[in-house]
Amino acid sequence: LVLVVDFGAQYAQLIARRVREARVYSEIVPHTMPVAEMLARGPKAIILSGGPSSVYAEGAPGIDPSVFTAGTPVFGMCYGFQLMARGLGGEVSATGAREYGRTRVSVSAPGTLLADIPAEHTVWMSHGDSVTQAPAGFDVLAATAQTPVAAFEDVDRGLAGVQWHPEVLHTEHGQKVLEHFLVQIAHCRQTWTMVNIVEEQVEKIREQIGERGQAICGLSGGVDSAVAAAIVQRAIGDRLTCVYVDHGLMRKGETEQIERDFVASTGADLRVVDAEKQFLDALAGVSDPEEKRKIIGREFIRTFEAAEAEILGDSIAEEGEKVAFLVQGTLYPDVVESGGGAGTSNIKSHHNVGGLPDDLQFELVEPLRTLFKDEVRLVGEQLGLPAEIVWRHPFPGPGLGIRIIGEVTRERLDILREADAIAREELTHAGLDRDIWQFPVVLLADVRSVGVQGDGRTYGHPVVLRPVTSEDAMTADWARLPYDVLERISTRITNEVAEVNRVAVDITSKPPGTIEWE
Ligand code: XMP
Repeated sequence: LVLVVDFGAQYAQLIARRVREARVYSEIVPHTMPVAEMLARGPKAIILSGGPSSVYAEGAPGIDPSVFTAGTPVFGMCYGFQLMARGLGGEVSATGAREYGRTRVSVSAPGTLLADIPAEHTVWMSHGDSVTQAPAGFDVLAATAQTPVAAFEDVDRGLAGVQWHPEVLHTEHGQKVLEHFLVQIAHCRQTWTMVNIVEEQVEKIREQIGERGQAICGLSGGVDSAVAAAIVQRAIGDRLTCVYVDHGLMRKGETEQIERDFVASTGADLRVVDAEKQFLDALAGVSDPEEKRKIIGREFIRTFEAAEAEILGDSIAEEGEKVAFLVQGTLYPDVVESGGGAGTSNIKSHHNVGGLPDDLQFELVEPLRTLFKDEVRLVGEQLGLPAEIVWRHPFPGPGLGIRIIGEVTRERLDILREADAIAREELTHAGLDRDIWQFPVVLLADVRSVGVQGDGRTYGHPVVLRPVTSEDAMTADWARLPYDVLERISTRITNEVAEVNRVAVDITSKPPGTIEWE
């Protein structure tokens, strides 16, 4: 275990991921955690992340310098590097020489940390203060034009640091620097793999659910719930029931894919609830986006709870025994962002389900709580789930309901489903699935425009293509799809979908746009 101490910048999660990419397990802890508590967890190493502030700013987050002398190896990055320098008697000054973004670094003495790395290379910086003198006992390894001490190490004490951000993509050799610390200086063993995760989780779930527990899992068709369900299925077999609510707002072929491929690859017990009519009736006449979301959310809970009640209704708990478990695909970023941090135990959620005894509680089973999205995909592959599920683009819960601008009807859904299927097919055909974050196709159902096809005038609807690149959906850029791919999509949609006579491309980034149109 390697602990990444979070000083409040957005870098801690990325560092934790990079450590895991080096096949060493890592978790994030807040900088407010007492050092004794960190050490009590027995970490092989501690990494201090970057932070937003100057070490001299009022209220700047700090760390008890005892962390540097406890015998556990420590690596400081950016702000963490400055904390280490200051904590051990070095000098950190506001030289006024700020460095942001790409910066050239010159390695003067590679030592262990920078061994086999080119003497001149480009790194990513973001700092105002600089270390002007390394603490006693440290070797200075590198400098930049503005920073005399940009990297240092004291291998005997297991301490090292760099002023730059080795974890970001734009830093050359960043992963190598991190691995040098982990392996050569902290002597971590690189044994953490997806196989371990699956086995570990299966054991944990068996323990949590016990001999008689029953679990249910709502499948959305997305990768998270599918992988969570597949792990639980491996642990408890048929005592897991998966529920898939078909709200009629899915894309072409998706429901069939869940019914066929998910079941075939996992052997899970799946109940598909056909609720299309119920959802479409509830949506009739509604065009306001928020109203649509509310209706879809409400109908979803209603349908899911009815299925739950049916499945778990006759499981009788003995005194003090828990028999009802709800599987959720919660990921590590959700846990970190909601302030859960490392090591928090499962939260109990009480559902009041109509038709169930009032005291029947659900306990959450969250097998992906420690994983990042890209790790979830690897686990999915490990579990033998089909690539279509493992690599599926994110798809919003309200489905195509928020990609029809205007009222949602069966007829409009069918039009959009056809256009969307063509766009996805051509994207896959061009080999671009993994370069694109999401590719919504939006039907402007209340808009008509004039066109000409064959010898006749048409008066059809436009669709908008919205391919975007992103890392986390918080920000996004419009994807520069090759013209020939766009052309094929446009030609096929206007030829094959009779009601559509115009195809537009959305070239707005997020912000100011959002990914979805509603
Ligand atoms: P926006 O459109 O806000 O979307 O840029 C960001 C990400 O969230 C997805 N999204 C939703 N997911 N329920 C969901 O489960 C929703 O109501 C919803 N709205 C947007 C969207 O697809 C994108 O990935």
